[in-house]
Parts: sequence; structure tokens; C-alpha cells
Amino acid sequence: MAKEKQVFFCKECGYESAKWLGQCPGCHSWNTFVEERITVGAQRNSAARRDAVAPTSILKVTTADESRIHTGIIELDRVLGGGIVRGSLVLVGGDPGIGKSTLLLQMCRRLVHDNTSVLYVSGEESLSQIKMRAERIGAFEQDMLLLCDNDMDNVASAIGKCQAEVVVIDSIQTMVVDSLGTAPGTVTQVREVTARLMQLAKQLNVAVFIVGHVTKEGTVAGPRTLEHMVDSVLYFEGDGNHGFRILRGVKNRFGSTNEIGVFSMTESGLSEVDNPSGVMLNGRPTGVSGSVVVSSLEGTRSILVELQALVCQTNFNMPRRTSVGVDYNRVNLIMAVLEKRAGLNLWGYDAYVSVAGGMKINDPAIDLGIACAIYSSMNNKPLSDSLMIIGEIGLAGEIRGVSNVMQRIREADKMGFTCCMIPKSNYDKTMEKLSIKVYAVSSLTEALTLL
Ligand code: TYD
Ligand code: MG
Repeated sequence: MAKEKQVFFCKECGYESAKWLGQCPGCHSWNTFVEERITVGAQRNSAARRDAVAPTSILKVTTADESRIHTGIIELDRVLGGGIVRGSLVLVGGDPGIGKSTLLLQMCRRLVHDNTSVLYVSGEESLSQIKMRAERIGAFEQDMLLLCDNDMDNVASAIGKCQAEVVVIDSIQTMVVDSLGTAPGTVTQVREVTARLMQLAKQLNVAVFIVGHVTKEGTVAGPRTLEHMVDSVLYFEGDGNHGFRILRGVKNRFGSTNEIGVFSMTESGLSEVDNPSGVMLNGRPTGVSGSVVVSSLEGTRSILVELQALVCQTNFNMPRRTSVGVDYNRVNLIMAVLEKRAGLNLWGYDAYVSVAGGMKINDPAIDLGIACAIYSSMNNKPLSDSLMIIGEIGLAGEIRGVSNVMQRIREADKMGFTCCMIPKSNYDKTMEKLSIKVYAVSSLTEALTLL
């Protein structure tokens, strides 16, 4: 017998609990639990099915020819791992207004241009609104099917009937399965809709893109509650103050993750940025202390970014430390190493570290850059404008090797830098022949003396 049950879900990550909790044990966010009623079906008697299932030998499994559909947008293809895989379910998450609908509509335009059939389902916008947006990004030369509906049963039958190769659902939070009886956007709804779309994608071998809004307030379940259910997860980041947007792959069953695609928002939709370093370094101040250029490896590309530090005397008992775009704990650790191993007296100084341009960096190769920026600002000593710094810092004050050094140096060379500082363990003789001057350092003190 099916019966109704009351449960609480975290609307950030989907953690389920029998009672309300102030803080989510799953993602540690506060006040994210919402009450929902779910129907629990009667246990299926699966004894009969159990006999029918038998394991298969891996040698006998044949892989279906994995022909990918190219979107024609190079930055998007790269993040998808070389194009769209048929039968895959891709989640595109991001803040409202960041450009998810625009990106997907542009993708659809390119797809229909290459004679791929596309169905665009919108639960948010009317037909004329979509048409208006389409006119902004450029005329459609081929036909594309549109559907404005938010009932999952209708959408499912439309997908079955029109036999499109690619389907876009904009957005998952507006779709409802009527029989569940809950409001659209709740955790149970978005999960059920996603599960149905997954089934459709695999059955009909269509690629399905779903849009998911990331929201902090309200009762809308975020895309993180779906991450484990889909094949690929792409997040669209960037802040409204900067024209550029970064599409980041955080999960991909058919390719590598950590790839990024860089776009800029223009009057006529998103345009691809083929030289991200140029964009990131645009407007860099010259001859200012605390500014350093570092290299961050994003997937297969190395991107040069400007890192800034500001160190000034504190007016409080406890000095203030703030970081934007880099890990806060990492900055504290580097400052501790600077105090202990390089004799820098940072106690009594506030320190602010930020990545210019609003990018977020996780690459440990920027450690040495952070240290040099802090040192430069502390001593009010500007560094050379044509110097690029890479290296990871250990607790003993040693500079550890980083990956893909040659690629990073080449990018710096291409961008017109004349010298770079790298870890000694990454140095080899062939680097002498390069037009860019390479300084190899093995410890933090050595690096700071060299500056
Ligand atoms: P949109 O794709 O609607 O965002 P999302 O679907 O993620 O909520 O993007 C909307 C923003 O993009 C809006 O602020 C206007 C801007 N925009 C442009 O600047 N140029 C354009 O050509 C288009 C279509 C949108
Ligand atoms: Mg939208």
C-alpha cells in the first residue's frame, strides 16, 4: 500500500531527514530545510525479476559507436568533452540572469543550422519572449521546435512524438509532475522530473539539457540536489559586473572535468573568448605594489591571471584577513609560512588578497604568487610588470614543483612576458633556450631575495 510520509529536505544539496534541522549535515548550510510530503510506494515483489537478471562478461559488451554532435561553439564543445553525447543528460546550473537560456538558445541555433533536430521546452518564457531573444542572437535559418509548457506528462509525450535529437528543458524548477501533488521547484519535484528525463534520454537516445537555477532564497531546490542523477554538470559563473562568463564542467561521465569555457556577454548574445589570458590581464595596473601575474591551469589550458594583495596596518586587536577568488585558509597558511620561514612580521597588519576579474582559482601553483604579492605590498615594492610566478609552497618554506610548467611558460611567452619564476624541481636545461628568462627557486627566502 502506498502511504504518505512527511520528510524534510535540504534545498541546497537534497539531504533528507525525518525532522527539521537548523544546519544541514550534508552541505553545512543553515536554514535550508523545507518540509515536503512524499508518497512511499508499497514494496515491490521482486523475486520473479531476480531470476531474470544475470551478470554479463565485460569482453562481450560492445560499445555503441559514440558519435558526438558538435555544437559549433568551441568553448562549449570543450567543456562537454568534445561535443554532445547522444542519450546523455546534461545539467547547466548558474545564477538567474547569468546567461544559461542565451547560451542554450545559441547552441540550438548552431545545431539546427547543422541539420540536427531540436526541441526547446520553456516553462519560464512565452513563445514571443523566446522569439525576441532569438532575434537578438541572430536569425534562425533552419526550423526549431518550441514548446511552452510545464507539465512533465505533456513534455514527455512531446519529446516522444517529435523525435528531436537534442532537447532543452528551461528550467527544471518550473516543471511539475502532477501526480506528486507538490509545488514546482521542490526537491521531490525536481528529482522526479529529472528521473523521468533521464529515462527518456536513455530510451529514445536523445541528448537532454536541463537548466537549473542556483538560488539562495525561496523554496526552490538548487541544481546540487540533482548532480548525482545526471551524466554531466556544467556551471555557468561570473558576476554581473564583469562582461565575461565562465562555463565550468564539474562532472562529466564522457570526458574530463575541470575544463572551462570562457564567454563574454555582448549586445547580441554570448561570444567566445579564445584568449582568456588577454581578458583576465586587461586593465592591469603597472608599477603598483602587490600586483602579481600567476598562471592557473584550467583543464587543458593555462590561463594567466592577475593576483592582488593589500597589506596595511591594522586598527583592531585582531588583524583582518580577507580573500576573494582564492581559498581563505590557503592565504592564512601562506602568511604563516611567510612569518615563520621568511621572517616577515605580518602580525599587526590587515591583509586582503584577491583575484582580479572575479575568477575563482584552486590551482596550488598560485601559492608563490600570493606570497610575492603580500611581500610586495608589505614592503611597498612593485614587482616587474613582465614577470610571471608559479610554484606551490610547503610548510617548511620550500617551493614544490607544479604540473604542466612548460605549457604555463609558453602561455606567458605568448602574452609578452619576459621573465618567469618557477620551482627548481621543474627546471630543466632546455629552458635556457627559451626567449623568456626562467628563474628557478627552491625556497621562499630565495624567491623573495630574487625579487
Ligand atoms: P539569460 O540567458 O536570460 O539568463 P538565465 O537564463 O541564466 O537566467 O540572460 C539574461 C541576461 O543576459 C540579461 O541580463 C540580459 C543579458 N543579455 C545580453 O546582454 N545580451 C543578449 O544578447 C541577451 C540575449 C541577453
Ligand atoms: Mg533563463
